[in-house]
Amino acid sequence: MKKKFLLINKKIKEFNYLIKSIPGDKSISIRVIILSSLAIGKSTIKNLPLSEDVQSATKCCKDLGVQIKRKKNITEIYGRGINGFVYKKNLVLNANNSGTVGRTILGAIIRSPYKIKIVGDASLSKRDFSRIIAPLNEFGATFYPKERKKLPIYIKGTDFVRPIEWKNPIASAQVNTAIALGALNCPGESIIHSKPCRDHTQKLYKYLKIPIKIKKVKNYDLIKIKGLKNFNSFDYSIPSDPSSAAFFVMLTILSNKSSILIKNCLINKYRIGFYKILKKMGAKIFFKNVKTYKGEKIADIYCKSSKNLKSINLPKNFNNSSAIDEFISIFIISALKTKGTSIFKGLEELNKKEAPRLDCGYKILKMIGIKAKKISNHGIKIYGNPKLKLNKKYIIKNYQGDHRIAMNTIILALAKGANFYIHDYNCINTSFPNFLKIIKSIGGKYEIN
Ligand code: S3P
Repeated sequence: MKKKFLLINKKIKEFNYLIKSIPGDKSISIRVIILSSLAIGKSTIKNLPLSEDVQSATKCCKDLGVQIKRKKNITEIYGRGINGFVYKKNLVLNANNSGTVGRTILGAIIRSPYKIKIVGDASLSKRDFSRIIAPLNEFGATFYPKERKKLPIYIKGTDFVRPIEWKNPIASAQVNTAIALGALNCPGESIIHSKPCRDHTQKLYKYLKIPIKIKKVKNYDLIKIKGLKNFNSFDYSIPSDPSSAAFFVMLTILSNKSSILIKNCLINKYRIGFYKILKKMGAKIFFKNVKTYKGEKIADIYCKSSKNLKSINLPKNFNNSSAIDEFISIFIISALKTKGTSIFKGLEELNKKEAPRLDCGYKILKMIGIKAKKISNHGIKIYGNPKLKLNKKYIIKNYQGDHRIAMNTIILALAKGANFYIHDYNCINTSFPNFLKIIKSIGGKYEIN
């Protein structure tokens, strides 16, 4: 069968649009699924997205014996308590495309008496797991084959989990979460030294009264967790995902005389690097109706398009994880909305995502005719050109089915009215199944061929 592609060749008309709801935040959803599976009793979760990554988390927990039922927008999860998973021989857990599921679930199963195989899709099978294997080895888990640092891999747990003290060399929330889940299963106190990065797990632990202490030491967080204390089931309503909302803010910024209001988005300070960087560049972005929900900050995000923005030399405190999933959008905006030269450094982690996003961002900019230079393996220099005419035919193919690359190029094509052929666009379902539906309701036109 011929594979389908998405064709865009019409510029979106000016819009003033209200998005009432965007799918729930992916990072919080995955953590809430795993934690409610480890709680005692029935948890009720609202607004859990139907994205494939989140479904992979649900499926893994079901395969570990947890009962999970969905009725419309409500998901009921019947937690089995710490170490309550049903471990079977020859169990295979499939994380599909999700690095967060593949890496964090490992921390939750460090007491498995049998070998469990973890598998993922082609993209996930290329990604590094040594960052997780090393700390979980310290807890006492064993991985097979011994030298292997990628999926597929087997983990065998231990009955004698020992507490660890781990200095996390990279700012990775996935690593912190895997260790935090390992620490739950373990007597005594485990300690993580981590550069600040998304802290949903820590916030959930506090809310669930799991013994956790967090102290700032210089530019590190010192996170101390005491294990083996069961915690009660809970109710949670997942706020909208700021990484998904970012695409519509990007569309507004790249368009003229338009505005967007997106309701009820998570604005955790480690997740809003994209918005902060764009504000520094002069974008009109405002957080309205700021509230706190179970430790997380939530707001309506309002954005208005403006003429040109200022180029940026990325300040050091932003090359961390707070904008990690949004850098391709920032590159495209710098290229098409500023006249100056923008410099981004310290982004080596970008090439370790679903696709090598630093290289892919560079390739897309070159393809559309933007002057850009790579800075070693960690950065990029972009020479902005708001007058650029995109009058060729552009093909987006072989980007390892990366959902964020597909959505970024759809936005770019709609804002510029350029002739884009986007292959493998179904990968959008990884994080944002109703993305095209929202695009259509804002007035974006596309054809599926
Ligand atoms: C995530 C953490 C980030 C991010 C990913 C989701 C999480 O990865 O890029 O999309 O939910 O913990 P790292 O922790 O590897 O930076």
